[in-house]
Amino acid sequence: MKLRLFFALWPDEPVRAALAAAAAPLLDSCRGRRVPARNYHLTLAFLGAVDAGRLDALRAAAATVRAEPFTLVLDGHGHWPRPRVAWLGCRRPPAAAGALAGTLWAALAPLGFVPERRAFQPHLTVLRDCRRCDWPGPIAPVPWPVSDFVLMGSEPGLDAPRYEELGRWVLAAGPATGNPADSA
Ligand code: 2AM
Repeated sequence: MKLRLFFALWPDEPVRAALAAAAAPLLDSCRGRRVPARNYHLTLAFLGAVDAGRLDALRAAAATVRAEPFTLVLDGHGHWPRPRVAWLGCRRPPAAAGALAGTLWAALAPLGFVPERRAFQPHLTVLRDCRRCDWPGPIAPVPWPVSDFVLMGSEPGLDAPRYEELGRWVLAAGPATGNPADSA
């Protein structure tokens, strides 16, 4: 059986609510299919369809990741005409976010996963099937303290995908972490 998988940052409820409030003026101004706030996330590594038998290896790889916790400030927005998405992002993404994505991809490389060639651009999609989005902003800045990352499975849903958490790892630099795999 194949699972559609990706690693992501998943906001908690207060951050999710703040993101929805910050996105509201953009959503009111631009046409498209709104991503339900319950689905808001920031993808670190998209893996696509993966054999379910590889889940344990993926979890073990994720447990080796060492990276500092950091705070993202979502204070920007953008629109990509090709995938037709409008998103919230950081005007100045912290280096730690890119470092986390890079460290994760390095851990996945021995399993044969390779990142896309284009540079990691942290973004949180709020609108799909969006041909144009001329809303000028600004976005009311939303601080998002990031202390862990997740492995998610995705299934098509009626109006939006359904996501299932398949693993969660605490961010911590250095050898000892609270990750369950460390004590296994
Ligand atoms: P997006 O928000 O820019 O569409 C789950 O599909 C997550 O993986 C989405 O957040 C999506 O990003 C991201 N993703 C990255 N590359 C993808 C791809 N080639 N196909 C589908 N989703 C992709």
